[in-house]
Amino acid sequence: MKSQKSAQTLSFLRHGAPVALRNVPPDRTLLEVLRDDLHLTATKEGCGEGDCGACTVVLGEAVNGKLTYKAINSCIRLAHSVAGMAVYTAEDIVSDKGELHPAQEAMVQCHGSQCGFCTPGFVMSLFGMYQNSQGGQGISRENAQADLSGNLCRCTGYRPIFEAAEKMAELPLPEGCAVDEGATFKALKSLRPQGDPTYLRPTTLAALLQARAQHPKAQVVAGCTDVGLWVTKQHKRFAQVLDVTATRELQRVETYPHHIAIGAAVSLTDAFAALVKERPQLLTFSRRFAGLPVRNSGTLGGNVANGSPIGDSMPLLIALGASVVLMRWQKNKNGGAMAHRELRLEDLYTGYRTHVMRSDELLAWIKVPRPTGHAMEKIYKISKRFDDDISAVCLAIQMTVKGGVVQQVSIGAGGVAATPVRARKTEASLLGQAWTADTVMAAQAALRAEFQPISDMRASAAYRHTVLGNLLQRFWLESQGTTAINLESLSTLEVLS
Ligand code: FES
Ligand code: FES
Repeated sequence: MKSQKSAQTLSFLRHGAPVALRNVPPDRTLLEVLRDDLHLTATKEGCGEGDCGACTVVLGEAVNGKLTYKAINSCIRLAHSVAGMAVYTAEDIVSDKGELHPAQEAMVQCHGSQCGFCTPGFVMSLFGMYQNSQGGQGISRENAQADLSGNLCRCTGYRPIFEAAEKMAELPLPEGCAVDEGATFKALKSLRPQGDPTYLRPTTLAALLQARAQHPKAQVVAGCTDVGLWVTKQHKRFAQVLDVTATRELQRVETYPHHIAIGAAVSLTDAFAALVKERPQLLTFSRRFAGLPVRNSGTLGGNVANGSPIGDSMPLLIALGASVVLMRWQKNKNGGAMAHRELRLEDLYTGYRTHVMRSDELLAWIKVPRPTGHAMEKIYKISKRFDDDISAVCLAIQMTVKGGVVQQVSIGAGGVAATPVRARKTEASLLGQAWTADTVMAAQAALRAEFQPISDMRASAAYRHTVLGNLLQRFWLESQGTTAINLESLSTLEVLS
């Protein structure tokens, strides 16, 4: 399909001044706009798929009356999605006199750059950390390791870059490098992004649902961390895009007595923060869900609606008993109204990346039951790399054992079937049974028999088959107090020391 040119103006803020561009197609990436249209070549293209971080830039956005900063991958971010925001690149943080920002100076002083290809991306991730920590205050190696997980370096071995992250707070901030937040905030308010017929970005839920009904063929996007790859890798073209991320009602996490509701426009970073607040044991898993720039752009709703069998959030959400709220615009004699239906998350999928959603429906909310305090909850991610990798197998288990008997169990699995799945047969083999080694052994066999995983570049079918049962055994051992030696208990810092 040919992409359309948009006659509307795309406007954002760069270096404190508005940038206005015309004729930007709806599927043009931010990296293409920066490098090819604006000739800002500090931002590099490495993988073009959100894996290496060479293309990292920082977005500044006015949220609840203050500026927030997020490092994102510009290679897979559609340019129109940054309308009304401030975009910072490695060129923008140097002063007019050529003085370096502490994020840059620290990299120089700590020898954090060798070939230099990854450096602008690291610098922008460091800049995002600097802005979000009052000038680098309190940045530890552990924070640095977590926040730089989306940036790859082939040369340095990372230690000097982590040291640069810690060093930033000690360095003076040249006057010309400081972000004037008051002026930026004012300038952002005056941008007033225009509506664009090829890139629809409604700001209210009613307008979003009406747009969906009127344009059923428009490509729906949220953070674009998967759809962006369809553009860069599969060379797909979109004539029209419907972006859900500006819809105010869907940008919230709402807390109710028995569940939290996560709007479809909530980033993975914010969604995981809400989940970790209630379930601190999910912190490590949340940090292993892609790199920070992907989590800053991607949304939980997008991950679920996309329905990839190796998407990491769905096994967890299935095990926690989450449901999804689908919404559409229903015409009536008064013009129309919002209609919704709710279903269990595992019932959303019908096959490989297919689902039960109608062409006029959108996934609006994910409802996650709050913890009861009685259940054991664990999630295991098996991937080749610790950081920034996709699971070969993911298994999540919620189980309540009372009086030595399994009273309740729900198991979500990823990487073992054409969709994220609930292991119902295995659950049946456990329910009402004594929680013993014999029961676990029988359940392992049930779990291995329930799915027929495939072989691909991440793992062979035999490996997946074996590891699936082994993870259940690990859950059993951990429930008995065995502390396993595993990847989660190690950190790069220990490896380096
Ligand atoms: Fe590698 Fe964008 S170019 S993440
Ligand atoms: Fe060469 Fe990082 S300095 S890839």
